[in-house]
Amino acid sequence: MDSQAAEQRVLELHNLLNQYNYEYYVLDQPSVPDAEYDQLLQELNKLEEQFPSLQSPDSPTQRVGGEVLDSFKKVTHDQPMLSLGNAFNEGDLRDFDRRVKQTLDEDSYVYVCELKIDGLAVSLKYENGLFIQGATRGDGSVGEDITANLKTIRSIPLKMNQPFSIEVRGEAFMPKQSFVSLNAIRDEKGEEPFANPRNAAAGSLRQLDPRIAASRQLDIFLYGVANPGETGVTSHSAGLDLLDELGFKTNKERKVCSTIEDVIQFIEGWADKRPDLPYEIDGIVVKVDSLEQQRELGTTAKSPRWAIAYKFPAEEVVTQLIDVTLNVGRTGVVTPTAILQPVRVAGTTVQRATLHNEDLIREKDIRIGDYVVVKKAGDIIPEVVNVITDRRTGDEQEFLMPTHCPECESELVRLEGEVALRCINPKCPAQIREGMIHFVSRNAMNIDGLGEKVIAQLYREQLIHDVADLYTLTKEQLIGLERMGEKSADKLLAAIEASKSNSLEKLLFGLGIRHVGAKAAKTFAQHFETMDALAKADIVQLTAIHEIGDKMAEAVVAYFAQPEAQELMEELRSAGVNMTYKGPKLVSVAESDSFFAGKTIVLTGKLHQLTRNEAKDRIEALGGKVSGSVSKKTDLVVAGEDAGSKLDKANELNVEVWDEQRLLDELNK
Ligand code: IVH
Repeated sequence: MDSQAAEQRVLELHNLLNQYNYEYYVLDQPSVPDAEYDQLLQELNKLEEQFPSLQSPDSPTQRVGGEVLDSFKKVTHDQPMLSLGNAFNEGDLRDFDRRVKQTLDEDSYVYVCELKIDGLAVSLKYENGLFIQGATRGDGSVGEDITANLKTIRSIPLKMNQPFSIEVRGEAFMPKQSFVSLNAIRDEKGEEPFANPRNAAAGSLRQLDPRIAASRQLDIFLYGVANPGETGVTSHSAGLDLLDELGFKTNKERKVCSTIEDVIQFIEGWADKRPDLPYEIDGIVVKVDSLEQQRELGTTAKSPRWAIAYKFPAEEVVTQLIDVTLNVGRTGVVTPTAILQPVRVAGTTVQRATLHNEDLIREKDIRIGDYVVVKKAGDIIPEVVNVITDRRTGDEQEFLMPTHCPECESELVRLEGEVALRCINPKCPAQIREGMIHFVSRNAMNIDGLGEKVIAQLYREQLIHDVADLYTLTKEQLIGLERMGEKSADKLLAAIEASKSNSLEKLLFGLGIRHVGAKAAKTFAQHFETMDALAKADIVQLTAIHEIGDKMAEAVVAYFAQPEAQELMEELRSAGVNMTYKGPKLVSVAESDSFFAGKTIVLTGKLHQLTRNEAKDRIEALGGKVSGSVSKKTDLVVAGEDAGSKLDKANELNVEVWDEQRLLDELNK
């Protein structure tokens, strides 16, 4: 065969194999016997051997790369990968619906209900139709590049049937059957079995050798486009249809529901049918369908306000409570933890459960020695549901909370209005240790390899006294620790080094200032841009930011007023830790100059020259406040195309109304 004929045949084989692959793995409707597929694949392999220049990365022969990786590269997501808020009962769902209705200020919206697949979230990037990169969610902004492993999932097209550039999101999972056979094999080999299909899927995709992932029979359902607005669709359900058309595997058990009643009915139906599915689901995801309305509802730092995950109630088991221990947290709160006779619940062995606080122990009348009902709240956190009093023998012991801190022995206090007991000694070693654990956690400085155990060890060995000391650690010191080899020490040092260049909000959140969560940290970072500027700000400057209330402002001022905090900033700075904001900048115009300063503005209808979020960001940057509903307090309504009830209401209340162009003119002034 000459090279031209070979090229022609290679193309034919690509098309045939892609089609057969699609029919088999995506549609679950094979049209040819396996042997025929194998034969064609072999033919392609041979041709590629003969004409190596014809072997392209999207060739059906390239699913399992030969290379074993050293580590996974980090991938910064173009659009953050958010998680979902949870609903545990009908009431939570109705509350969600009420919030949606209130914000949209109208009744015309519909939901899409989807199965919540229990696997791990991944993002797939295509350029000109070719699969170029696949990543884990990670902390939502930065994940790991697991392209080679994802390529082994046969339902992921290496080439879409349109030359689009698009990023799609979905859930990779291990079907129940694959999980059962995988664990049987592991048992036979004397290897530790996986606790559940989700862990098995995650473990498989975290293998550096793609051949292992290839052997694990993983699958995927795509549930969304990262930036659906750019594809021209106007609803989530149309986005899913588009994914189908492009050759992706989506879950067909989805339903458009026009009322929350329909949603609840859909959920009830699946609670019964759930065990019959060939894969595990842990709930139902409910999403507002219209993209325009999704934009209007917006997101919090963590999750969209337009979607919620209903979680099926957890499995409950009975076990004995052997003892109660105490934990001192980062803010000094002392929490009692139940030590349980180990028991399996929802896929893992549980031996501890939080008891939250003394009131709860009294309320449930939990005693040491009791038989208790245990479940995993949200399928994750073990919790004591209630006591089986019938099984009491009389030998059970009441548990009394201590009067002094179990770590530093200072007297515990109960702050007004709180149920918790607190240790208020700022030098309490437990608080310092927990503070450091928070500092390195994902949403804070995100230092991989610095888990609770390593921090506890470093602290115990007096190698670190505060978070700044993390940046003085040496390889020799690390290698001295338990279970720390040279390789992990190198990795850890590299992760610590990398954290120095984090944007300001991560550091700010990591400091653990009272009331300052991830979202507030971001807001402060955006507004002040440097740690210095924030540290110098007074209450008036802080509360001038719309999202910032008195309590938070006071906490920030009080934090930076402490000499210890100033010292810590100096230490971090001289260690080379970045203290500036690196994200997108707010336009800085003196608020008093702007028309928008101090005004409440409502955006409604379709905007064409900028997105709803861009408009919101720019108005807010100029000191305006963007609200979701029109009231007497509204100063201005900007009405785009097809504006509906909000425009009517504005007219009714005599509120000033602008069109998009007028808004742009004012913004550009
Ligand atoms: S939508 C911004 N749909 O559940 C919304 N998530 O915290 C992104 N999941 O991390 C998620 N099935 O991994 C969505 N049909 C579905 C899903 C689903 C499973 C996972 C996803 C996400 C987690 C929710």
